[in-house]
Amino acid sequence: QILILDFGSQYTQLIARRVRELNVYCEIHPFNNVPEINDDIKGIILSGSPCSVRDEGAPDLDLDSLRGRLPILGVCYGSQLLAHKYGGEVLPSTIREYGRANLDHIDLHHDLLKEMTHGSTVWMSHGDTIKKLPEGFKVIASTSSVEVAAFKIEGEKTYGIQFHPEVTHSTEGKNLLRNFVVSICGCAQDWTSDVFIDATIEDLKSKIGSDKVVMGLSGGVDSSVAATLIHRAIGDQLTCVFVDNGLLRKNEFEEVLESYKDMGLNVIGVDSKQRFYDALAGLTDPEAKRKAIGRVFIEVFDDEAHKIDGVKWLGQGTIYPDVIESVSVKGPSATIKSHHNVGGLPDFMKLSVVEPLNTLFKDEVREVGRALEIPETIIGRHPFPGPGLAIRILGDITAEKVKTLQEVDHIFIQGLKNHGLYDQVWQAGAILLPIQSVGVMGDERTYERVVALRAVGSVDGMTADWIHLPYEFLGKMSNEIINRVKGVNRVVYDISSKPPATIEWE
Ligand code: XMP
Repeated sequence: QILILDFGSQYTQLIARRVRELNVYCEIHPFNNVPEINDDIKGIILSGSPCSVRDEGAPDLDLDSLRGRLPILGVCYGSQLLAHKYGGEVLPSTIREYGRANLDHIDLHHDLLKEMTHGSTVWMSHGDTIKKLPEGFKVIASTSSVEVAAFKIEGEKTYGIQFHPEVTHSTEGKNLLRNFVVSICGCAQDWTSDVFIDATIEDLKSKIGSDKVVMGLSGGVDSSVAATLIHRAIGDQLTCVFVDNGLLRKNEFEEVLESYKDMGLNVIGVDSKQRFYDALAGLTDPEAKRKAIGRVFIEVFDDEAHKIDGVKWLGQGTIYPDVIESVSVKGPSATIKSHHNVGGLPDFMKLSVVEPLNTLFKDEVREVGRALEIPETIIGRHPFPGPGLAIRILGDITAEKVKTLQEVDHIFIQGLKNHGLYDQVWQAGAILLPIQSVGVMGDERTYERVVALRAVGSVDGMTADWIHLPYEFLGKMSNEIINRVKGVNRVVYDISSKPPATIEWE
């Protein structure tokens, strides 16, 4: 595997994604907690950072203990650190170098740069620049404004690059990463979904033995794939719990429960709608709503878990980005919203946790799901928030409002599917606004609800753009919603991107 040492760059996860796209396993660890270097580790990538090597207390690393032992590639800050620590000069660049640049001078015979081309486009994003290299460091690529765009330390497999090969704007970045990971580090490109599945099932078998496992399912990709893997390993020692919190999409509970049963999972469906509505009655603050839902979910889940005699483990669908976030250099980022489903396990449930997907990115989870032959209706599903429609009904929740929103949402989502738009959208839904507006139907004035439609494109939900859905389609949706859903007389489309807006309205 490849070890990626993180100095806090926003692009670190992307480096890992790119390496894994080469079918090579890699892990990200913080720079200040380097794991033991064993034979499994074939090379190290040092990430970028928002810091400058000249800052007091800048992130630092004992490079002497790594140099020469195995190949090292420093990216941006990583390359500056190499230059700075061995006697080079790193200075603030006179212009902030940000955006596309071209490698006008490039040593194409070089093992790191082969299969790239003269003038190759690369993405720069740095405030510092390497003005002078230490003795024994050799420039192997330059742009018109950055002389040291790439260097090599003579006599050892240590390299530095000022640009970011991991972002797609660096059009040949993948070639460079392949050169490093495959040719220079000698990694076999044998990390595939099937290898992952076999190894995980073996691992789960030996870890769990003959114990019983309980797991909450949400209908989403992660929990479904995790449950399927555990089920393959231990069969009916796994009991799944799927809770109807009354905040799911129209018909979702019945449909998803049916697919789970078809997949052979042992699932208990629990109708707790009223318990959730009671807990939510009168609450309008979004955080209070989330907390109430989280609390009731745990109560319901705990009731069910207690019915399983001698259960020892709790299965969870935690994925790699959640793990990286919790150990990251920056620490867990400020709580903007309390995502109740990553809150961990309450003390009173003394179960050990098993998380078979905690080394995978979302797209890898989908690939594994497909290899496990989980139906496409589950794998290709848009993400849906744990608190469900409760955070898409602004203000207080009533069963009647949920029903109205379910009808609107159903028309919109079915419309996207019928028009071949569903898979072009990362997430979509409808929001019930806490206002009424005037309309006219026949000879009568109406005073009814307004709904907003939202459809965004995104990679991981951290940033998002609104999707330019065709006007004709939007017109059709508006007509259908207003004609078919009682109590709604106006439809608007949300054209805000994240940031500065967020995907959800609460
Ligand atoms: P925002 O609104 O923060 O949403 O841009 C980003 C992604 O997170 C989902 N989301 C949630 N998921 N519990 C969840 O499980 C929550 O409380 C929650 N709030 C937002 C949102 O649907 C989007 O995919």
